[in-house]
Amino acid sequence: MKAIVVYESLWGNTAAVAKAIAEGIGPDARALSTAEASPAAVAEAGLIVAGAPVIAFSLPSEKVRQDLRANPGKAPAPPDLSHPSMRSWLAGLPRGSGRSAAFETRIWWSPRGSAGQIIRGLKRAGYLPVGKVQRFIVKGAYGPLREGELERARLWGAGLSQAVKRQPTSRPE
Ligand SMILES: Cc1cc2nc3c(=O)[nH]c(=O)nc-3n(C[C@H](O)[C@H](O)[C@H](O)COP(=O)(O)O)c2cc1C
Repeated sequence: MKAIVVYESLWGNTAAVAKAIAEGIGPDARALSTAEASPAAVAEAGLIVAGAPVIAFSLPSEKVRQDLRANPGKAPAPPDLSHPSMRSWLAGLPRGSGRSAAFETRIWWSPRGSAGQIIRGLKRAGYLPVGKVQRFIVKGAYGPLREGELERARLWGAGLSQAVKRQPTSRPE
């Protein structure tokens, strides 16, 4: 089964988690930015995992992305806005029948997240969730990830792969 792990990542934490999840799923999985995850890549995937950071207690909005570009504040580097927001990627997602999962990267105490919005977008397009959404924790506003989070991401990816095998779709392998 082919799988894609699609990410929006402004400072690289979510991208790193996405790559670890893809490693955990196995050799048929690829981590792709929202720019790389084309309709063709989506069409051949039996599992779509999607993730984004939590910014201002939510999935980053276009306004927040533009504000971060205009006012980088204490950021160690400008935000990477070279790929579209997860919001716009989800809005353009073609309908399909594969399985889905969602994750977010965030600080530990945030009262709200982004993965719930992502999984709802995937469900709306016909991709049924396999398992619960997952949260990966960073130590400061811009990262780095807590120790052990990449290993946890690999293990979660491996678990998703097993879960999809137990709940196959009609899509050819
Ligand atoms: C301006 C800004 C706002 C943030 N807001 C939140 C938030 O509301 N909740 C949260 O859990 N984390 C928040 N974070 C932390 C990010 O979610 C975290 O650093 C994330 O891993 C960034 O992912 P990225 O490196 O892939 O862009 C914020 C970070 C920044 C820079």
